[in-house]
Amino acid sequence: MSLKSKIEILEEKSQLAELGGGQERIDKQHKAGRLTARERILELLDSGTFVEIDKFMTHRCTDFGMEKNKTLGDGVVSGYGKIEGRLMYVFAQDFTVYGGSLSRANSDKIIKVMDLAMKMGAPVIGLNDSGGARIQEGVESLAGYADIFYRNVRSSGVIPQISAILGPCAGGAVYSPAITDFILMVKETSFMFVTGPEVIKTVTNEEVTMEDLGGAMTHNKKSGVAHFTAEDDEQAMMMIRELMSFLPSNNMEDPPQKVCTDDLNRTEPKLDNIVPSDPNKPYNMFDIILPVIDHSHFLEVQPHYAQNIIVGFARIGGSPVGIVANQPAVLAGVLDIASSTKAARFVRFCDAFNIPLITFEDVPGFLPGTAQEFGGIIKHGAKLLYAFAEATVPKITIITRKAYGGAYDVMSSKHIGADVNYAYPTAEIAVMGPEGAVNIIYKNLPVEERKEKVDEYRDNFASPYKAAELGYIDEIIYPNETRKKIYQALEMTRNKTDNTPPKKHGNIPL
Ligand code: HXC
Repeated sequence: MSLKSKIEILEEKSQLAELGGGQERIDKQHKAGRLTARERILELLDSGTFVEIDKFMTHRCTDFGMEKNKTLGDGVVSGYGKIEGRLMYVFAQDFTVYGGSLSRANSDKIIKVMDLAMKMGAPVIGLNDSGGARIQEGVESLAGYADIFYRNVRSSGVIPQISAILGPCAGGAVYSPAITDFILMVKETSFMFVTGPEVIKTVTNEEVTMEDLGGAMTHNKKSGVAHFTAEDDEQAMMMIRELMSFLPSNNMEDPPQKVCTDDLNRTEPKLDNIVPSDPNKPYNMFDIILPVIDHSHFLEVQPHYAQNIIVGFARIGGSPVGIVANQPAVLAGVLDIASSTKAARFVRFCDAFNIPLITFEDVPGFLPGTAQEFGGIIKHGAKLLYAFAEATVPKITIITRKAYGGAYDVMSSKHIGADVNYAYPTAEIAVMGPEGAVNIIYKNLPVEERKEKVDEYRDNFASPYKAAELGYIDEIIYPNETRKKIYQALEMTRNKTDNTPPKKHGNIPL
């Protein structure tokens, strides 16, 4: 055979592999409003940077006549490329080949990029579109999943792992994403469930649609399984690129710096008037966060879930920071089960990847009630306490108004290792609100006389000055200078080292 024809064979095979499950299925994928695996990768990575691995791998199953039905690449496209010039590993399940289901060969390809990513210290981005375990392969497929889960866990906290859910993902196809750091879903075209509507109907007699059971808004709003929503596949890929711009490639690196073109001494006079004088009046914490960060650019994480707490990424002075903020405009910013677990997971992510934490605090305490107690607010609230106390990245706290009770301790207080604790002059740092306190300590006084005591308590205790006298607050700051003060604190803490005692791992309440 001549050299030319050998090259032609390569070209032919390559084209065949790129066709996946065939043009008909590709058309079906497009008609369903979805891109193909290859199209997604091209959208995700810097142009011309994708290098494919294992393009010609096939499954090795001989049951159910499968040996007659092999596709080059076998349902997953994998390799590496770049985002803003930085190395990323990627795999994209190809729904046109057996519904993107996971064969042994398919998992071998995913494992290969996961192992490379760990060795090279680069993130793994999984583009999931899969009907779960390849039914024809039985336990080999289950073994493939477990091999992936094992690597997900070993990689956790070492390299960022991002999952996009871009089609109907069932069974094993949701557990790997669940272990990764962030899950992104596309509205109306992506679904996640352990078992689908038909199995549910058989087992529990419940009737539920795919969308209600496992659609993007179900997991972004109700279950809290997912972190981001996109309108379509293209936007999803752009969002992953943006998320990556805040993250280091691995836990030994600092997050990527950008040149800061936003004045670091910028004062914001309007901040002096955001916190209302009436302590029961809500305000929007975004009105404080956005003017303080570089160019008001904020990537909110889980914006639809537990909105009484805000978490997300921003930059100050060009350096990425993680922001955790109570939101007085939703449920008065109270800490409940959902907001505690949402923030705890975010705090642990930032700590694992060297991203300083900025906490804006206005919290009336933990939400009382049987629903919360029976649901385990004690252990879930403890997660946030644990996460903040465990974090060794720079921790800067700004108390804007209420810091009541246990929530004062939990929200990155000086006592659990915060490096710089600021308070606005409007801060109220106390065991509880003045009314609650007076109702307990003066319960025998007539109601009219209690009012006087409330004012007295507010004047004496519901302020930042007591805490400042004790050194629990380092500085009471002018709200208009918040940006400058946070930057000063970030500069001061830049070389922070804080070692935890040697241990295998802690035992966070789960
Ligand atoms: C093999 C599969 C498959 C699977 C889909 N296909 N899922 N092949 N193994 N798991 C094939 C279909 O036969 C079909 O082939 C093609 O993919 C497209 O599937 P459709 O059903 O036509 O697509 P759609 O109507 O969009 O429905 C998608 C779906 C559905 C919701 C994902 O296919 C489905 O329910 N699949 C099974 C899901 C499941 O139960 N998986 C196992 C979970 S258990 P043709 O040739 O017709 O195009 C599991 C164990 C691991 O994962 C647990 C670890 C903890």
